Amino acid sequence: MKVVRTIDELETAPGTGLVPTMGAFHDGHRALFRAARAENERVVVSLFVNPAQFDEPGDLEAYPRDEARDLAIAEAEGVDVVFAPAELYPKGFATWVVSDVTGAEADSRPGHFRGVATICLKLFNIVRPERAYFGQKDAQQVAVIRRLVRDLDVAVEIRVVPTVRDADGLALSSRNVRLSPEERDRALGLSRALEAALGAPDPVATARAALNGLEPDYVEVLHLGDAMVLAAAVRVGSTRLIDNILLEGEIR
Ligand code: PAJ
Repeated sequence: MKVVRTIDELETAPGTGLVPTMGAFHDGHRALFRAARAENERVVVSLFVNPAQFDEPGDLEAYPRDEARDLAIAEAEGVDVVFAPAELYPKGFATWVVSDVTGAEADSRPGHFRGVATICLKLFNIVRPERAYFGQKDAQQVAVIRRLVRDLDVAVEIRVVPTVRDADGLALSSRNVRLSPEERDRALGLSRALEAALGAPDPVATARAALNGLEPDYVEVLHLGDAMVLAAAVRVGSTRLIDNILLEGEIR
């Protein structure tokens, strides 16, 4: 496995699958690596904690980082190249991709998806992948990226991988390591509330009522292509967690 630190050193090749990440790998990232490994000749994983998408002071500094562990995991999953640049914003950076895709996650994190859309378009241009892999866990991120690719005619196929969960249902997230055992217990209320709303006549109201005292940022029904998901964000202590569940259709 090659570790590449600069754009100049990174080669492009047909048959490349890209998995964009911010590191702190868990089994959710592993599922993306495996999906990419299964359908591409060459798998590139990008590892860059993108400052532009952090909308809360302190969250960027507190973001978990362990590159040595991440590289070992990527290597074990058969990744060909890890692209881990120190910087991707040249001095005087002045051009942003602003997505008008609407939704509660965009409303509650102003500027966040501008950072995500900009870095993803940069990565598509740098890596030139045939396919790129994203997790369903970040459902609105998928909506933003799919629309970006369509609107700006980017020649990449977007693949969505189902959310990987712990045995008790908690969606894996790099931010979970910040939860105390007591907070982790409370955090379970999120996936349970979404689960409880499956098949309910008013899933938003049912999920809200089932949150077990957790304060939601939002609970909303989100349209993702032909699929409909129930998405929610909650705060547990100082950690913000998001999750969603498929209500209807299929995410491809
Ligand atoms: P990051 O949080 O590192 O996530 C990288 C990818 O892993 C995203 O596509 C995310 O949806 C997926 N993922 C995270 N948890 C998952 C889980 N439990 N199951 C399945 N997939 C999961 O998302 C980002 O980084 C950034 O916004 C990025 C796209 C890299 C742009 O900076």
